[in-house]
Amino acid sequence: MTETPQDAQRSGAGPTPWWRDAVIYQVYIRSFADADGDGIGDIAGIREKLPYLADLGVDALWINPWYASPQADAGYDVADYRAIEPAYGTVADAEKLIVDAHELGLRLIPDIVPNHTSDRHAWFRAALADEPGARDRYVFRPGAGPDGAEPPNNWRSHFGGPAWTRVEDGAWYLHLFDPGQPDLDWSHPDVAAEFEAVLRFWFDRGVDGFRIDVAHGLVKDPAMPDLDDAGDMLGRSYSAGGHPFVDREGVLEVYESWRRVADEYAGDRMFVAEAWTPAPERLARYVAPGRLHTAFNFDYLVAPWDPAALRETIDVTTGYLREVGASATWVLSNHDVVRHPSRYGRPRREREAVPTSAVTGVDDPPDLALGTRRARAALLLEATLPGGMYVYQGEELGLPEVEDIPDEARQDPTWERSGHTVRGRDGARVPLPWSDEGTSAGFSPDGAAAPWLPQPEGWARYAAARQEGDPDSVLALYRTVLRLRREHPALGDGEMAWVSAPGDAVLHLRREPGFVCVANLSDAPVDLPAHDEVLMTSAPLEDGRLGADTAVWLAVS
Ligand code: NOJ
Ligand code: MG
Repeated sequence: MTETPQDAQRSGAGPTPWWRDAVIYQVYIRSFADADGDGIGDIAGIREKLPYLADLGVDALWINPWYASPQADAGYDVADYRAIEPAYGTVADAEKLIVDAHELGLRLIPDIVPNHTSDRHAWFRAALADEPGARDRYVFRPGAGPDGAEPPNNWRSHFGGPAWTRVEDGAWYLHLFDPGQPDLDWSHPDVAAEFEAVLRFWFDRGVDGFRIDVAHGLVKDPAMPDLDDAGDMLGRSYSAGGHPFVDREGVLEVYESWRRVADEYAGDRMFVAEAWTPAPERLARYVAPGRLHTAFNFDYLVAPWDPAALRETIDVTTGYLREVGASATWVLSNHDVVRHPSRYGRPRREREAVPTSAVTGVDDPPDLALGTRRARAALLLEATLPGGMYVYQGEELGLPEVEDIPDEARQDPTWERSGHTVRGRDGARVPLPWSDEGTSAGFSPDGAAAPWLPQPEGWARYAAARQEGDPDSVLALYRTVLRLRREHPALGDGEMAWVSAPGDAVLHLRREPGFVCVANLSDAPVDLPAHDEVLMTSAPLEDGRLGADTAVWLAVS
């Protein structure tokens, strides 16, 4: 895509590539907007809401997997990377969406899922039929124990149970996720060639980049050794690069060739990696020159609402990224974790649980008034930080985690695979409330089928239409913050400096020219520092002072 009006407005327009400071809105397509009334979000629904997204002030959309899929893991089990899931539309619809988005100045990045396919993918069907060579594209091994009846090693699936499933003729295949998601063998040349062709297929259709699923996991130790600690899926107990499937050395070569593919195209195409690494500085390797453009900063997402923890992750992240010249990304919520107003409304934990299915609701209900107040302050802090940021759909409406989905309605494979002990991620994926109209709080048109996940009582309370025109709404806060972030020359890419000291409960940071953010994470009001003008606050000032769990933006000289 060529330069947008937003690019021109962007502070310091010129050589800065758009993704270094973009606000990227995550569309969880299944739950975003249902235009055809089958109770499932679709591409036509996204097209209808593009003006809303442009108005919100975001720069780009990341769309969760939209490919043809049996939906064993909500589309992260892809049966055909060149086809759109029929419930969502067609490739022609996707092409129209890309054109419409670009007309409104919005870029678009789909998800790519290279670690595994669906068990219905043509390659895996051929592997099941034991066609010559077909099993070599996946990870098949003989079993252990008498008659090979035991899994080849002790690896566990992220969703619970063994990471191996046995096929009819007795061989076992690896799936780090659901049995419907067999892992590919990236040492096979077909695999690398196929994914480069898939990247080109979508780049040719105008997508502006890709979010890379499980980017740390493609390369496995062919010896398939038992894990020291079968529970430690992130490899924290292993030396750098020594884990049998997390963050191994060879994985970066894959991204070096992907980068060359992206660079063949005009218009600043980009990648963002979902890479979980045992130590934060290992992430810098993924975004070093010649590799990927950006990677999600999950350390920030999992940090509790605690001044020392937040400051430390900001410093560590910006520090290691500066060394490789990469820009940061800041994320508070996504489709795999408990929504942050609910997280922040619970007693502080040292570090939130990670990742995916491990992150589930805990039993005592959150204090949502407190969590929402903190979430509002967190937005001002996040939008101050140098780099880009992600907004997960519904975050701009202040949606909490839905904690009371009936067990029989749960869809996340974690629920079944954990023997009904881990509830999973459905609570962050409930279809959006748009209005009081139609079925399901405006998610679907009138008379539509029930939404694929039930909405709780009173969900329309959060509807976008209800927040329109209310200056105190979360939606109004997001619109103002994102507009100021785009307009203010101090914000976006660049440098920041702390004014507060380490250990202070009030975070005070400065960006040039003349911009200050103060976030009060103490439990009492504090005085504002000297300033020329209050630009905005996350909650009203209290007798001119900044209340607890409140943030302010100030113009200073
Ligand atoms: C990470 C995705 O965000 C998550 O939703 C999915 O279950 C796993 N990768 C497996 O693809
Ligand atoms: Mg639909």
